[in-house]
Amino acid sequence: MIPSLRSGATLLLVLAMLLGAAPLRAEDGYDLWLRYRLLAPEQAKFYKNRATELIAGSSTPTQSVTRGELLRGLQGLLGRDVPLSDSVTRDNAIIVGTPRSSALIAQLHLDTQHLGHDGYVIRNVVVDGHAATAIVAQEDMGALYGAFHFLRLLETGQAIDHLDLHETPRVKLRVLNHWDYLNGQVERGYAGASIWDWWKLPDWRAPRYTDYARANASIGINGTVLDNVNAGATILTSTYLQKVAALADVFRPYGIRVYLSIRFSSPIEIGGLKTADPLDPQVQAWWQAKADEIYKLIPDFGGFLVKANSEGQPGPEDYQRSHADGANMLANALAPHGGIVMWRAFVYSASNPEDRAKQAYDEFKPLDGRFRANVLVQVKNGPVDFQPREPFHPLFGAMPKTPLMTEFEITKEYLGFATHLVYLGPLFEEVLSADTMAHGKGSMVAKVIDGSLDGHALTGMAGVANIGTDRDWCGSDFNQANWYVFGRLAWNPSLSSRAIAEEWVRMTFSNDQAFVKPVVEMMMGSREAAVDYMTPLGLLHLMGPGHHYGPAPWDASESSADWRPVYYHRANRQGIGFDRSRSGSDAVDQYAAPLAAQFNDLKQTPEQYLLYFHHIGWDYRMRSGHTLWYELVAHYTQGVDDVKRMRQTWLGLHGYIDEQRYEQTAAFLTIQEKEAQWWRDASIGYFQSISGLPLPPAYASPPQSLQYYESLTFPYAPGFSSW
Ligand code: GCU
Repeated sequence: MIPSLRSGATLLLVLAMLLGAAPLRAEDGYDLWLRYRLLAPEQAKFYKNRATELIAGSSTPTQSVTRGELLRGLQGLLGRDVPLSDSVTRDNAIIVGTPRSSALIAQLHLDTQHLGHDGYVIRNVVVDGHAATAIVAQEDMGALYGAFHFLRLLETGQAIDHLDLHETPRVKLRVLNHWDYLNGQVERGYAGASIWDWWKLPDWRAPRYTDYARANASIGINGTVLDNVNAGATILTSTYLQKVAALADVFRPYGIRVYLSIRFSSPIEIGGLKTADPLDPQVQAWWQAKADEIYKLIPDFGGFLVKANSEGQPGPEDYQRSHADGANMLANALAPHGGIVMWRAFVYSASNPEDRAKQAYDEFKPLDGRFRANVLVQVKNGPVDFQPREPFHPLFGAMPKTPLMTEFEITKEYLGFATHLVYLGPLFEEVLSADTMAHGKGSMVAKVIDGSLDGHALTGMAGVANIGTDRDWCGSDFNQANWYVFGRLAWNPSLSSRAIAEEWVRMTFSNDQAFVKPVVEMMMGSREAAVDYMTPLGLLHLMGPGHHYGPAPWDASESSADWRPVYYHRANRQGIGFDRSRSGSDAVDQYAAPLAAQFNDLKQTPEQYLLYFHHIGWDYRMRSGHTLWYELVAHYTQGVDDVKRMRQTWLGLHGYIDEQRYEQTAAFLTIQEKEAQWWRDASIGYFQSISGLPLPPAYASPPQSLQYYESLTFPYAPGFSSW
């Protein structure tokens, strides 16, 4: 079929096809960053000469998938099958394996001990007189990770002539948290339904489960919590455990362990007991028996994730026991099998008059040192709730005797759902590189997470998944980058989010520098743009009630005070902001002394956290010399301008990638521009009604009345549990 010459870009496409370049086939995003499309001819030729044959074992399931992935990847990228061989017959073979699995690898005498379970080396070597590239690990899993890394080098157009790469993950548990219900709905999910087809499991194991495992393994993720933290008891019934076991079987060759969110009161609901008191011997015996049952089905089961005494969930405090009592009881049941407990610190209560941002620290800090060795406390990145920007959680650095995991939200609950382009790499990096000052300068959150600050071997990072049944998995192509960057940072929390963005763009779209550069720039600025058009200068939690979409700074309708935007911004005629200084809630003193002093001092507080820590007058002079009111309006406007620029950038990139993905991003950016404007106008309209101040000259007034913005409703917004 001859494409119609609708536009200049179509013409370019036809020319490219005539000139022999690879045609830009429509893509639906299903292949994620593992597309393995044919490389440009010179590049493919170059790599072909360096991948003449493949020597890879297949005597274990992980070896088989490693070999399969290399064959598939090389075939796709180079456009021809790379022959398999048992021995080196020519120059430039690829050899993959472990000293145990391959005599060729053993004869290289590389030191693999230090690589542990997941590490690997990729090195140019000489074997039997032939140059070769060796992907070497101590265990099969390391070899699989190494194979993915090698393919990534090709996909991103890297030199492979002088390789000497050593990689070991800095974090042990690199875990996705699915907030999926057993009925198929996904809490805060914007990419369709749950990918777990519980009804058809265990007999039908959808091929998608394998692709899910491949994608995760390719970025180093090694654990998945299958069900929502707001868990029911049903997942622990034997019927459902069979289904869980089937998924575990599919994931095992890819090094992915399954974990379950459990409901603390399960012994009552499915065990027939009268209590779930963690100190009750019958309750303890019930959990032990349950753990034994699980491990019989799933010998490498990972463990439990627990949301207890939080937002209405049951927990040990229902029996006047502590979080440590609850966690340790479960840890005791799992310990004989090698399982772990991830106990969430996301706790606050409407009946507690204390500043919500302080409550997790208040409850957990005194428990430091009281958890069993196989318990990690899972702490959200910020003290409130996954907002566009928050300071790092004060528990990081404050519980030296307890392994702390961080929990990031990959799904964009507060950041525009599926349609807004917000690359979360800079947010994750900002948190990981924040200095807690717990042991003086250089005590970064990343060092708390990787265990190096306080000498913990059990370490972890969790991300709330953005995955669903949409063909593109994540609701948009750019949302895939957030899954990707989470995995890469969980492997190494010191990587740069910019470098990861570039890697992802090259694999997901194109290696053409004229495309890569502007797209990376657009991604890197996108999170700051969202902060500006939603919640600038340290504001947070200003979104619509329940569904969390769109602006509603006026909202006071929620049953619980600390769910209401007005609780957070505290705007009045005089000023705006939450006073968390020593003259206010004193949340500042939950940070290490030098930071507490800095945040307590209005003049020293970074302006990006200003209204988080201080309530200040509208006419307060900012560092720019402008008033706070002026700056607030300027930031809101800047956010909209940035999105306009993002959209313009994308419009200039027509023709570089396939039409299908290009068009969707273009359409989503149009939505984002419209909604950034809405956030700005509604927010400025509201704050103006409170401050009573005129807009600074040259800034446009909102086109609609405040009543109009307040009147908007959003029935059936996705991801919200009142279906
Ligand atoms: C947020 C989110 C809830 C979720 C909760 C949690 O409050 O809106 O849907 O259950 O976080 O992390 O437990």
